[in-house]
Amino acid sequence: MSQQNPRSVSVIGLGPMGQAMVTALLAAGVEVTVWNRTAAKADAMVELGAARASTVSDALEAGAITILSLTHYAAMYDVLGPAVDSLDGRTIVNLSSDSPENARKGGAWVRSHGARFLAGGVMSAGDNLAHPASYIFYSGPREVFDAHAELLRPLSPQEYLGPDDGVSQVFYQALLTIFHPWLLAFDQALAVIANSGHEIEQFLPYAIRANSAFPYFMEAFAEAAQAGRREGLAGFRMMDAGAQHVIDASEEVGVDATLSHTSQAFWRKAVAAAEQTTDPVTIFNLMRHASPE
Ligand SMILES: NC(=O)c1ccc[n+]([C@@H]2O[C@H](COP(=O)([O-])OP(=O)(O)OC[C@H]3O[C@@H](n4cnc5c(N)ncnc54)[C@H](OP(=O)(O)O)[C@@H]3O)[C@@H](O)[C@H]2O)c1
Repeated sequence: MSQQNPRSVSVIGLGPMGQAMVTALLAAGVEVTVWNRTAAKADAMVELGAARASTVSDALEAGAITILSLTHYAAMYDVLGPAVDSLDGRTIVNLSSDSPENARKGGAWVRSHGARFLAGGVMSAGDNLAHPASYIFYSGPREVFDAHAELLRPLSPQEYLGPDDGVSQVFYQALLTIFHPWLLAFDQALAVIANSGHEIEQFLPYAIRANSAFPYFMEAFAEAAQAGRREGLAGFRMMDAGAQHVIDASEEVGVDATLSHTSQAFWRKAVAAAEQTTDPVTIFNLMRHASPE
């Protein structure tokens, strides 16, 4: 095994996120080697100063650690599978998104081939790693994180969550659970404004202003969920009616209200549950104990 520069990182996977990582590492003076399935995507990174590995094994050899930035964990097996003989003694930091269970299985698989493993979830503002809101969750053995935290620091601020390989994906996917419907809801709102003949520029400051109330709701909802505070049937019925108003406001002007129909279906489920029992019904508990449709 060749002696590596301790300030060297290999990056496998050069989608928008992998490229942002390479750029941040090079800017911090780290020696970077890259490999990507579609080789042409490495060209721009080589122009920036990265070295090109012609094989996955070469990439694993070159860096003190190897970061994977792939679409999902399945891609890790496709990429590293043919190069398992080069894994022994290496450190793999998989910053790809997937389920917690797939991250745990991935970690076990990497270790079964003699390598160290860390998992991570990149909580960035898109691929803008330098944005003040960007940070990365890490999980896996504390000593592996501590040994490489300094080398990984140029990527974004770090939040180490614990030794369970899956926990970074638990927190990451929980945050994306909020973000995914928000993305669709925001475009639906913009479509309502535009289709109603109004200017998005006029609407945007109000959307930002409404957003500033969300931390208040988050704290109140988190406190209520932990306290098991009962939510009343009247409240669920009110939200059902409110969802109908959102659906009407969208559909009156030809906007797709699929998302709002889904939220209304959930409020109706809460109404039905509250009508069937005298026990306290909370949305938090309905979410926790999903019943088949
Ligand atoms: N982009 C963002 O804003 C952002 C933000 C936070 C987190 N993330 C997460 O970061 C990860 C990477 O993001 P990205 O936007 O760069 O993703 P992406 O555009 O999906 O690119 C992923 C990379 O995975 C490779 N890949 C996919 N399937 C493969 C396979 N079967 N075998 C070999 N290589 C494979 C692609 O190779 P080819 O080039 O050959 O297709 C590409 O290099 C994802 O897990 C994403 O969820 C992204």
